[in-house]
Amino acid sequence: MTIPQDIIRADVLAMTSYPVPDAAGLIKLDAMENPYALPRPLADRLGERLAQVALNRYPLPRPGALLDKLKCAMQVPVGCDVLLGNGSDELISLIATACAKPGAKILAPVPGFVMYSMSAKLAHLEFVGVPLNVDLTLDVGAMLEAVAAHQPAVIYLAYPNNPTGTLFDDADLERVVRAADRSLVVIDEAYQPFAQRSWMSRVGEFDNVVVMRTVSKLGLAGIRLGYLVGLPAWINEFDKVRPPYNTNVLTQATVDFMLDHLEVLDAQAAELRAERARLAEAIGALPGAHVFPSAGNFLLVRVPDAAAVFDALLGARILIKNVSKMHPLLAECVRITVSTPDENAQLLAALKNVLV
Ligand SMILES: Cc1ncc(COP(=O)(O)O)c(C=O)c1O
Repeated sequence: MTIPQDIIRADVLAMTSYPVPDAAGLIKLDAMENPYALPRPLADRLGERLAQVALNRYPLPRPGALLDKLKCAMQVPVGCDVLLGNGSDELISLIATACAKPGAKILAPVPGFVMYSMSAKLAHLEFVGVPLNVDLTLDVGAMLEAVAAHQPAVIYLAYPNNPTGTLFDDADLERVVRAADRSLVVIDEAYQPFAQRSWMSRVGEFDNVVVMRTVSKLGLAGIRLGYLVGLPAWINEFDKVRPPYNTNVLTQATVDFMLDHLEVLDAQAAELRAERARLAEAIGALPGAHVFPSAGNFLLVRVPDAAAVFDALLGARILIKNVSKMHPLLAECVRITVSTPDENAQLLAALKNVLV
């Protein structure tokens, strides 16, 4: 008889699957999604385009015309190449796989995006987490020390960071990049539409920097597309560990279509940036709430009792994320995705009832 316990890795047996709570019937403010749908006429035209896609054929592994269009739209520097992933989650896994030499390490500030440590663990790499300062800014001294001590293969710098929303200082980032001359530095710009700052134009300036982006936060989380921008020497290596048909035909066709209508998504991001400012001010005025500065489409808020706030909001049919157990620096913190004016108003009303 064969049972999984005899076959599966012990560390995998001890894991739990990535938790995605059931949000049916709830206002969903837990996953940094764009709350806006596509305008109806545009969605209809997209539907017509998708109806023409050859579902019987495998996708092009490196769709040249689409890559050129993406490069142009996202201002990828001349001389740099692009690798598509099934979400940036997949790119993070591919990077770990490709770099998994015995003894290699992945380093990132903590608290940070959970997939950096998860990908390291799954590829048998050591993960080194460098705590942020108490105000959740980058502890650049600690980063430089850790880089020198660990000589990591890969360093992740989320710009801005999740779950804190912090946009690390450019000069600090540059110090880390320059000190990490034996590492690959991945600047993760998942929230770039809300930060409006980027290292994209600087990718070719350093031989050890790549920039990772996603269309998820821009409003296309469902199609799963991330992309990695870097010098061809890096991209060619990561391309070798990519599953051959990792981005599907419907995703490719949707991106191709949406790149002609980016102004729609950009306008939604602008709306969310304005809502972020309004919401941060309103929540900050509530008793006991401290809102950390955020350059993402979410707010990290410290409250007197995060579990009580989470439960009270759930009672009001609003789902947020209680991140207080993720890291000691996040004690009593919740993370709230910025949404439409209507949903934000409902959130505020519910918060007012619990923060008294
Ligand atoms: C910093 C950061 N990077 C990457 C991702 C993953 O994005 P994707 O949806 O492209 O897998 C997230 C998702 O929350 C994120 O917060």
